[in-house]
Amino acid sequence: CRHGPASPAMKVVVIGGGAAGLGVGWRLLQAGAQVTVLDRAQPGHGATWAAAGMIAPASEHGGDNPTEAGFASYSSVLWPSFAKELEEKSGVQIGYRRCGSLVCSHREGAPAPAGARRLDTAAARALEPMLTCAVQSALWLEDEAQVENRALGRALVRAFLAAGGELLANEPVVRIENDGARVLGARTPFNVFEGDAYVLAAGAWTGRIEGLADSVLPPVVPVKGEMISLVPPPGAVMPACVVRDEHVYLVPRATRLCVGATMENAGFDTSLTPRARQWLFDSAVALMPDLAHWPLHEHWAGLRPGSPDRLPILGQTALSGLFAATGQYRNGILFAPAVAESLCALILGRAPGVDVRSFEPRLFAGAEFAQE
Ligand code: GLY
Repeated sequence: CRHGPASPAMKVVVIGGGAAGLGVGWRLLQAGAQVTVLDRAQPGHGATWAAAGMIAPASEHGGDNPTEAGFASYSSVLWPSFAKELEEKSGVQIGYRRCGSLVCSHREGAPAPAGARRLDTAAARALEPMLTCAVQSALWLEDEAQVENRALGRALVRAFLAAGGELLANEPVVRIENDGARVLGARTPFNVFEGDAYVLAAGAWTGRIEGLADSVLPPVVPVKGEMISLVPPPGAVMPACVVRDEHVYLVPRATRLCVGATMENAGFDTSLTPRARQWLFDSAVALMPDLAHWPLHEHWAGLRPGSPDRLPILGQTALSGLFAATGQYRNGILFAPAVAESLCALILGRAPGVDVRSFEPRLFAGAEFAQE
């Protein structure tokens, strides 16, 4: 994206201050654009805050669309330099760590993605001694990584502001004003924001914005995820890598172990349920029995943005001047550097470094969608 300045007059309004919106905004500022990010609440406190921070193109990503797999692996390659630059520019450490993922199975011989090493129970337990003996086989993905996603949100805010961006919290865009061909403005309860280009990066809330026909943007639905974290009792050793099975994933952080996540279509409900908390805890204990002694530290919920085909929605819409960066579903953190880079390129009329044509919102034009 940074191959020379944008037109100095270019003004971009970004709707949504999460990893996608702030990332695109930051890259656009670096390219010389003027950028305003509008967040419905507190920037970096939606799905970016609630996520698990896994950068796991093989074990978490899981889709079988080759373009999406290519995008996921492109983004994971961008991650180390993205993290380094973001830390330098923001002064915030974001804890990017290539810790690897251990994918456990209670069956023999699950199919192995490229780059995975197959381990038997003994080898898997040598890597993670707390693992249950009931694990039959495991895959070791040493290139997978993680980042402290809440710190990522803070770092993006700082880097965006340091680069000269305007960031408005509690400024929910309720309507995209348009004449059917081009955008006229982004309306919030008390203001209308005008720009040369607009980026819809409102995550699960994208579908709440009025004024857009189905031919402009397919429905984006919230997919609720509850998570918990556990703290090690004295003398306990934190797992070294991300560990997962068919039910849960365990993500080790400096002082706590994050356990995720439920998947539920519950509209915009983010209430915390004892049932989910118990299921997460029991599933974690089934994978690592010693976790039965680890006290609960936190329980939280967030909303993933789900598109009809569960692929990201990325690129120019059928309305002139309106771009979308939403529908990242389970992979908003993984995709963040590639979304920032590729959407910045598209807005500036340049070719992205990765194929994003399958994610174009215009592909949905005229499609019918069943209600979820
Ligand atoms: N990427 C983790 C989740 O969506 O639960």
